[in-house]
Amino acid sequence: MKRAVIPPEETARQRAYEQKILALRQGGLAHVVTYGCQQNVADSQQLRGMLAAMGFGFTDDPAQADLVLLNTCAIRDNAEQKVYGALGRLTHIKERRPDLLVCLCGCMAQQERVAEKVRRSYRLVDLVFGPQALWRFPELLYEVLTKKGRVFSIENERGAIAEGAPVVRDSAVKAWVSIMYGCNNFCSYCIVPYVRGRERSRSPEDILAEVEGLVRDGYKEITLLGQNVNSYGKDLETPLDFAGLLAQIDQIDGDFWLRFMTNHPKDTGDRLFAVMAKSRHIAPQLHLPVQSGSDRVLRAMNRGYTRASYLEKVRALREKIPQVVLTSDIIIGFPGETEAEAMETISLVEEVGYDALFTFIYSPRPGTPAAEMPDPVSREEKQVWFQRLLDAQNRFSAQRHAAYVGRKVPILVDGLSGDEAWPLSARTPGGRLVHLQGPAEAVGRFAQADIVDSNTWALFGHL
Ligand code: 5AD
Ligand code: SF4
Repeated sequence: MKRAVIPPEETARQRAYEQKILALRQGGLAHVVTYGCQQNVADSQQLRGMLAAMGFGFTDDPAQADLVLLNTCAIRDNAEQKVYGALGRLTHIKERRPDLLVCLCGCMAQQERVAEKVRRSYRLVDLVFGPQALWRFPELLYEVLTKKGRVFSIENERGAIAEGAPVVRDSAVKAWVSIMYGCNNFCSYCIVPYVRGRERSRSPEDILAEVEGLVRDGYKEITLLGQNVNSYGKDLETPLDFAGLLAQIDQIDGDFWLRFMTNHPKDTGDRLFAVMAKSRHIAPQLHLPVQSGSDRVLRAMNRGYTRASYLEKVRALREKIPQVVLTSDIIIGFPGETEAEAMETISLVEEVGYDALFTFIYSPRPGTPAAEMPDPVSREEKQVWFQRLLDAQNRFSAQRHAAYVGRKVPILVDGLSGDEAWPLSARTPGGRLVHLQGPAEAVGRFAQADIVDSNTWALFGHL
């Protein structure tokens, strides 16, 4: 497939629109809300960068804002309901302040079904655009401001890569770097490939330059992002895969931890594990979503691996990196899943022994194959299975965390918590959360912590 890189003239045109808006408006305050995954968090940092270039400052209070931007998520129905709730609340603000600009972007906004509903029922929204048009936000907003009409830009552009947009980051310690966009896997339950388009990789030069810049600026934890980072590079002319990219980034000198997500078990393997095991910067952590422990359900999900092949990869990983912290995503109640199949998932979870899990009850996404499959099991019954999964995992996470108590562990202090008893927040190399006592000056430093307590979700320690 040909790589779709936006020509520099086009991105320069967007920078020019930022300047035109700056001249037109003389400032104002923007309220940006981000729903969903880390990719959206990274996208919001670009959107904020563009808004800053247009002269906007930022506020946490929508009632003070001149522009509200909702960067939405479509992964499950409850993510969409939250956004409709927020739009409902904004309606009242806009009644009082008709010149408030309301913009809707992100995965939910890319869907025709949603755009239709917003067109008809949420007349307060001025601008709707999907992730594929994100790089054209300045131009689209300029259109709204000059035409005084609503603008919808949700065409499927198959996706492209735009470099050089400004970024406003929200931490001085942790940074996210997208290495690729989109997904080609079409897991049968998932909306992402429809809204984020086909896989496209940023060039290794652009990625390396960004990471080098971040390290130079003092960032201590850098997380590489992609829907499936393991298929990085398949569309590049130079043959370079994700393991190769990681090995190059690992050569960068400086004091930083390197993380990445998300991984797909079908594309993960020994080459990656070998690079991780040898590396200087890569954290001993892998998020390896299994989704289900039943071979029949995995086939119906179109996941491309079996329970046995997944377990074999976990074994190989732990052989190379015994201390690795392993986490996963699980879906309970996929259409047609039986109780016995759900229990196979719980048995897999017990067999692997994950440090933590992200667990979901299946939510039908209109337009995906799974949404058309018969789904006879009631929500109540799925909830019972789900609770059994949570009980099993919580017991295990609590045990895992208890084993840290009394030990001294390396940590990165990544921020203030706002909690007086444990004023700092920190992470272990494996990414476990530590509530920490220590001085505020420690933020941004690597240190050692004495772990004194733990619960299901976190550790507690002293600097
Ligand atoms: N219903 C429930 N969970 C889903 N996920 C993706 N699509 C759905 C859906 N339709 C979960 C998967 C994925 C995580 C990001 O969200 O577990 O790994
Ligand atoms: Fe969705 Fe599967 Fe792609 Fe992940 S790999 S974004 S679950 S389709």
